[in-house]
Amino acid sequence: MSILDMFKKKKSTDNHYLTGKEIRAIAKENSKVMFELERKKHRKADESEFISAMKDDKNILEIEDLHTYFFTEQGVVKAVNGVSINIPQNSVVGIVGESGCGKSVTSMSVMQLLQGPTGQIYSGSIRFKSLDFKRDENGNPIPIYETDENGNVVYTEAKDKRGNVKYGKDGKPVMVPVQKLNESGVYAFEMEEKVFDIAQMPINEIHRIRGRQISMIFQEPMTSLNPVFTIGNQLDEVVFIHTPGATKEMAKARSLEMLKLVGIAMPERVYNAYPHELSGGMRQRVMISMALACDPRLIIADEPTTALDVTIQAQILDLLRELKDRINGSIMLITHDLGVIAEMADYVVVMYAGRVIEQGTVSEIFHNPCHPYTKGLQKSKPTMDSDTDTLFNIPGNVPNPVNMPSHCFFKERCSEASDKCSGEYPCMVKISDTHYVSCHLYGEEDCNG
Ligand SMILES: Nc1ncnc2c1ncn2[C@@H]1O[C@H](COP(=O)(O)OP(=O)(O)OP(=O)(O)O)[C@@H](O)[C@H]1O
Ligand code: SF4
Ligand SMILES: [Mg+2]
Repeated sequence: MSILDMFKKKKSTDNHYLTGKEIRAIAKENSKVMFELERKKHRKADESEFISAMKDDKNILEIEDLHTYFFTEQGVVKAVNGVSINIPQNSVVGIVGESGCGKSVTSMSVMQLLQGPTGQIYSGSIRFKSLDFKRDENGNPIPIYETDENGNVVYTEAKDKRGNVKYGKDGKPVMVPVQKLNESGVYAFEMEEKVFDIAQMPINEIHRIRGRQISMIFQEPMTSLNPVFTIGNQLDEVVFIHTPGATKEMAKARSLEMLKLVGIAMPERVYNAYPHELSGGMRQRVMISMALACDPRLIIADEPTTALDVTIQAQILDLLRELKDRINGSIMLITHDLGVIAEMADYVVVMYAGRVIEQGTVSEIFHNPCHPYTKGLQKSKPTMDSDTDTLFNIPGNVPNPVNMPSHCFFKERCSEASDKCSGEYPCMVKISDTHYVSCHLYGEEDCNG
């Protein structure tokens, strides 16, 4: 190629090349939308603006038509592009799909942890059934006090920080009502069930849910733990932040209880240790104990065993399975490991290129996979009885997330594609009450739209 050819102006239709004018136009459009979304996120809002109602009362979380975008210099990356997922109470829902399909971005949207201003929930709902503090007219949580056999509130002498009795101006001890402790050993408050739409919640209200009612276990515990504080400091902080009035003793007792719960044999020693003094498996146990500290209703585990070696993986999965029965909550388990899903989950959601393409119970997805991509995933799993040397792989790549086609996103890789597949994007077809698939191979008479 001659030097002159190199400087020839490329056509703007070239997929990988944007002219300066186009980049400026994208930046202008992006900043307009980002500014609007950031303003909405940081507004002061009355609770009525984000109170909602569940469509099905059996669910703890309902994600409906969620769109989460990244406004980049190259254009808008539609990382989550119309995702709907329900998580029933007391269940484990596994989310699978190849790298980049939007699993983590979906979970980050639920936690409102997207990095702004580029990452934004653009539209959709995330309804969560929360058990929140009942509040008085000043917005303070209402404590529950100890009562005697006649139903009268029990009072005790007030003490200062050093444990000395406080005296009033009249020289008599100041009397205060005795607050009850709940079964977790921390102060009890009146609670009420409310459904919040997290997608509409301003960022300064999200602490009512994040960490306390929905907690997250990340893939790499070392990056989630602070290296300069002891495990005890970090565990206690969770209790302090989410429990009004919690004392040091209460927080420590709760932290030690949680460490014991996740199978740590010497909780006192681990409590005083720094993260670097623990092994990878121990650190992941600490992360799990931190996630459990406030009795969450939903735990999001994003690849919780990926950074661990196989034997420790098995231990952590055993622990999660055991905890699932002990805590009265649900788990959203994100993984690309079908074996983990088969062992742990009740329901499976298969994602592809920012959309849900199939969902059903574990048995439906494993014994009757319908979508060609799910069938491909099953085939690419190594089995003990297969005698081939090479594993099946799904050929081709995911389409460019900035410029998604209007037809089925899997078409270019699909061995079962037909003429119909070049038309509209396939809608969700009902296979059974729990099994849905988005593919033109299935009759659209039952299409849900
Ligand atoms: N900060 C960001 N800026 C731009 N694009 C992003 C950003 N974070 C994520 N994305 C894009 O969003 C899409 C979904 O990413 P996500 O992290 O949810 O994938 P994933 O399914 O969790 O993959 P993995 O299995 O590798 O963790 C990807 O195409 C990714 O490139
Ligand atoms: S809609 Fe067509 S291209 Fe898409 S997965 Fe189904 S058969 Fe394949
Ligand atoms: Mg991820």
